[in-house]
Amino acid sequence: MLNVKLHHLSFSTDQLDRMVTFYRDQMGMTDIEKIAGDVILRAKGRIMHFVEGPKNGLNYASYAAPNQAALESIRQLHEAAGLELSASPSPIFGAEAYSLTDPDGNQMVFGVRTNEQEDNSMPARMQHVVVATTQVQQLIDFYSEKVGFVVSDIVRKEDDVITSCFMRSDNEHHSFAVFLGDASKLDHNCYETSCWNDIRDWADHFSDSETTIFWGPGRHGPGNNLFIMVRDPDGNAVELSAEMGEVPEDHATGNWAHTERTLNYWGKGMARVE
Ligand SMILES: [Fe+2]
Repeated sequence: MLNVKLHHLSFSTDQLDRMVTFYRDQMGMTDIEKIAGDVILRAKGRIMHFVEGPKNGLNYASYAAPNQAALESIRQLHEAAGLELSASPSPIFGAEAYSLTDPDGNQMVFGVRTNEQEDNSMPARMQHVVVATTQVQQLIDFYSEKVGFVVSDIVRKEDDVITSCFMRSDNEHHSFAVFLGDASKLDHNCYETSCWNDIRDWADHFSDSETTIFWGPGRHGPGNNLFIMVRDPDGNAVELSAEMGEVPEDHATGNWAHTERTLNYWGKGMARVE
């Protein structure tokens, strides 16, 4: 097991000011740093790095190892898998970090956890990121056979086409997932709260600014987590979650049918593909 956690994300956007305003005001991120036109926002448990570029772009996703020795082991695993490793594009991690690129061009960065910012912002630890792709199986093979993620659950349509694959990098059910879509792009980013009542508080917070919850509250099948979702100005889904499931190291891959109930035990599903 890689034993890494999602640490920070970088999105490209063609409306930097609106995205920064959303994540600052709606996601409660207050510490703003500007580096050569890029903007970095921080709050306890979450860091975002915005760059100018096409919207809905995952510039990179960064996963943190607990220490330098652990990162070195992961690097050796990636080198042994024949992955091409490049310099890290992240200004958050140190010089020991590196990146690799998946078959869709998504950059994944591996580094060492940095000291966490302490503040009184609402609980929301950056927990998973999901990309949409037209080549689900290729991404599953890449991440499970080379990168070292472990497949927790797979969702298939009646014709056996895989619509989503949830992967873990430690004991949390998923820290990354790939969804079948009509293009390669970012699907959503998710923040784990501390309890169900936090979801209520986030919902009230979004209500104050008339930010509409477009899906949820509900409970997902895979992961068994409670959720609400809103959209950022680029249309990327932003998920607030509670009770994300933990699985044992030897958890067998689960197989789910692509039904509304799988996507949401409590009500309507939101299928990206029919
Ligand atoms: Fe999610």
